[in-house]
Amino acid sequence: MDITQYRRPELFRYPNRAWPEREITHAPIWCSVDLRDGNQALIEPMGEARKLKMYQLLRKIGFQQIEIGFPSASQTDFDFARLLVEKNLIDENLEAQVLTQARPELISQTFAALEGYPRAIVHLYNSTSPRQREWVFGKDRKEIKQLAVDGAKMIRDGAEKFNDTSVRFQYSPESFTQTEMDYALEVCEAVLDILEPTPERKTIINLPATVEVTSANVYADQINWFCDHISRRDSIEISVHTHNDRGQGVAASEMAVMAGADRIEGTLFGNGERTGNVDLVTLALNLYTHGIDSGLDFSNMPEIVKTVEFCNRLPIHERHPYGGKLVFTAFSGSHQDAIKKSLEQRRASNKNLWDIPYLPINPEDLNRSYETVIRVNSQSGKGGVSFLLESDYGYRLPRTFQQSLSRSVQKITDQSEAEISAAGILEVFEDHFMPEEPVRLILHQAVPKEGDNTEAKRGIEAELMINGQATTIRGEGSGPLDAFVNALQNHWHRSISINDYSEHAIGAGSDVEAISYIELDVDGKIFFGAGRDSDSTVASLKAIIAGLNVSL
Ligand code: KIV
Ligand code: ZN
Repeated sequence: MDITQYRRPELFRYPNRAWPEREITHAPIWCSVDLRDGNQALIEPMGEARKLKMYQLLRKIGFQQIEIGFPSASQTDFDFARLLVEKNLIDENLEAQVLTQARPELISQTFAALEGYPRAIVHLYNSTSPRQREWVFGKDRKEIKQLAVDGAKMIRDGAEKFNDTSVRFQYSPESFTQTEMDYALEVCEAVLDILEPTPERKTIINLPATVEVTSANVYADQINWFCDHISRRDSIEISVHTHNDRGQGVAASEMAVMAGADRIEGTLFGNGERTGNVDLVTLALNLYTHGIDSGLDFSNMPEIVKTVEFCNRLPIHERHPYGGKLVFTAFSGSHQDAIKKSLEQRRASNKNLWDIPYLPINPEDLNRSYETVIRVNSQSGKGGVSFLLESDYGYRLPRTFQQSLSRSVQKITDQSEAEISAAGILEVFEDHFMPEEPVRLILHQAVPKEGDNTEAKRGIEAELMINGQATTIRGEGSGPLDAFVNALQNHWHRSISINDYSEHAIGAGSDVEAISYIELDVDGKIFFGAGRDSDSTVASLKAIIAGLNVSL
């Protein structure tokens, strides 16, 4: 690595900046550029079918401005623009945006693509930065400004002949952030002189961070300065279009809105050239989690993710904000514990406010379910293990059982270095707390105590299978459990007692069963046993036997 190749860019500073004190209080105008900027960056650009699917998704989400393509540069884009008209897939609610460069033949092709659209935005761009002027175009400041002015004249004249479509204009000084601010302003003013916007028919001035070269605060200063210096502010919409080269696309767009921008261009999940365009999903849901209506609907996130992955033929990262498969999953034990307790508190309090640690958004809002919230691997604790057993199988383990089970699960996940499923945890639970060997309960009946002539049946007679051999045991006590424990003591000649006991119902209606959890003291040592049966006494007897089996 040769660091001497690099230097800090000349820093733009605007001491009169107002943005750091501002908050975002309402949603900007959104424009999706998935079908243009996003599509241009794909390994396998979308054909008609995938474009249509993406377009339909964008409309379903609620975008009212969509850059549908670059029809003068791509036949596929031209044909797609026509297809939307032919298939009657456009309406008054949509402003279809198309990109063009400033050449007469390109501009006539652009208008031809828009025939039949009720509303359209013709988006003109040319690059303005010193490096592009000098090295790419070989033109000076005056010539590059003239290029923009000529382009503006062409789109203005083209629109004049275009009676049935309500056309607005957009101009982008490409590579704006690397352009001298006074020059970017001068070019935009010259373009506006030609386009003559009005408050009723605003022109969009789009200020792209074509390549992100500074931290987000510098971009915000540039936007703040531009908004303060551009004329006809009431007749223009300031739009921002950030890319993510330094990983600050979202921050830059949010700060730009604080600095005065009205509109944001970006793509779903940030697909776009190099490190991508800004991610509109993150921006919109950031607003949502602050209680601000973004106007976009992401309530079926799994479907949106699936469609975007299909259209772009690129996967969305598991940790991508809001959309990734793992973003509502906690593996760490302390996180799981906090989530589990907080979800229970919220449920019990009946309050609507979402304030759950580690979960900035309610997964249900995005059609994601709690089952995926907690997953278990070696980093997890008893909270996660017991959460899964409860949510998937209805078992509400006492604390001591949770601790013991979690230790066993951790041994397994430490060894496997892998995740364990709820079914896997259930298997561990059954192995550890419900062993059926060497002793199994076959049947039991309550019997009177010896010499007791009353109706009371305080004795028990049980048939057990011990190492495959049927054996009958008898005992007496204050109730069936006590009598059963005494019967076991008599048979095994060991000190056996119940240290702790709890049970709850599982299932509902005619399928309801009882599950008993018993802490059994055998010769001064504690063993855990669980039993499940439709009869609650049998469930408890099975739990005692299970505890005994663990001890044997
Ligand atoms: O990144 C960019 O500058 C662009 C322009 C065409 C707006 O995509
Ligand atoms: Zn771009």
